[in-house]
Amino acid sequence: MAAEKSDNIESLKLRAQQAENEITKIEAEIEALKKGLIIPDGAVVSSELDALRTENAKLMYQINHLKKNLELEKKKQPEYMLSVNSIIEQVFALAIHSAFPQLGSDAPVMVVPSSNPKFGDYQCNSAMAISQQLKPLGVKMNPHEVAKQILQNLPDTPYIDKVEIAGPGFINTFLGRDFISKLISDLLVQGVRPPYITKKHRVVIDFSSPNIAKEMHVGHLRSTIIGDAISTLLEWVGHSVLRLSHLGDWGTQFGMLIAHLQDTFPTYDKETPPISDLQAFYKESKVRFDNDPDFKKRAYEGVVKLQSFDPAYIKAWEQICAVSRADFQKIYKCLNIKVIDRGESFYQERMTQLLPELQMSEHIQIEDGMKVMFCPGFKVPLIMIKSDGGFTYDTSDVATIHQRLFDENGTWLIYVTDAGQSTHFHTVFSAAEMLGWLDKNIVRCEHVGFGVVLGEDK
Ligand code: ARG
Repeated sequence: MAAEKSDNIESLKLRAQQAENEITKIEAEIEALKKGLIIPDGAVVSSELDALRTENAKLMYQINHLKKNLELEKKKQPEYMLSVNSIIEQVFALAIHSAFPQLGSDAPVMVVPSSNPKFGDYQCNSAMAISQQLKPLGVKMNPHEVAKQILQNLPDTPYIDKVEIAGPGFINTFLGRDFISKLISDLLVQGVRPPYITKKHRVVIDFSSPNIAKEMHVGHLRSTIIGDAISTLLEWVGHSVLRLSHLGDWGTQFGMLIAHLQDTFPTYDKETPPISDLQAFYKESKVRFDNDPDFKKRAYEGVVKLQSFDPAYIKAWEQICAVSRADFQKIYKCLNIKVIDRGESFYQERMTQLLPELQMSEHIQIEDGMKVMFCPGFKVPLIMIKSDGGFTYDTSDVATIHQRLFDENGTWLIYVTDAGQSTHFHTVFSAAEMLGWLDKNIVRCEHVGFGVVLGEDK
């Protein structure tokens, strides 16, 4: 009994000792792991820890494997994001063209997002128009029947789960669940990517465009912000964008500004005139212009001298523009806007150079001593040369579009101003087409208009 007891005690002591050793070992290992030390392979480690480490290694392996797969997937993905609307449009285009081959490429394919999930995700609304187009071809088919024909020709595709005809002939389209869930997971993994572009454009965008010595008013601010947003978006999509501010930096107002500058800061050619408030300066010169006949005469002479590029007048003009530009730059800096100043003055010589071509064209007519150009689709002509021989805003934009088409090789021209100038720009586009400069199949021209800013008197 006694021997047995002492045996037991011995074995208990031994086990206690073993457990103690185990604890010390684990403690040492935990310490080592905390310090980031690696236990050499083959070192004796506790069994639990060993199991944990094996498990850990497996997990690490799996994570790496997943990561690698993801990288591979990412590489396989196109750089661009799919446009669901245009995919669905393509599916319906296929169906429509095979259902109604007699309509050729004119067949209207109209797919829009649904306004209500009840009506599916997208709607194809072509049936009504097709029904109309079939009539003159001697085919009488109501829109509902047209819609049925379209559906019969709908290709089998993973993009669409379900379609149904609603109302007179709307086709409600429910997107393929698997297709859409893949799109969403791509979006989550890869973020928003630009759409695929079939043509990389050379965009020339005209925005901001304030006028020297005049206030940069809210209309210019709107143009600045809208134009900058469009530019940023188009750059991101992958187009090459030339951002231009078409400053009003030329014109008769410089005659009186220069005359006033000569009187108030005669040393303007040697030092920058300390004009802090150009608008006040403008007002002062305007008062003198309106009340002092001698000053008025000098102002008129000044315009002629400036327009014949007299160096002293050019210097004065530059000084005045510099003051305004510095003011505009403060605003651009605040708003983080990138834009190149390229004002009306840039096109002065180009207008002169274009004149012979314009005068030769049969499009120029003389009206009230002015040389005007009538353009297809517009009642009011562009005034190309005033009766005193001077150029106008119209002349400058005709020269400008020529420069953007031929020197900048623009394939997408955008002008951002208030809607009040819409007719002006569309007349200029029409002129460019009429003169054979612009092929609308190749070059896209747009006026992006926003609301006119009204005074309190409306
Ligand atoms: N400076 C003009 C204004 O304030 C806008 C110029 C717009 N651009 C053009 N190419 N005309 O109304």
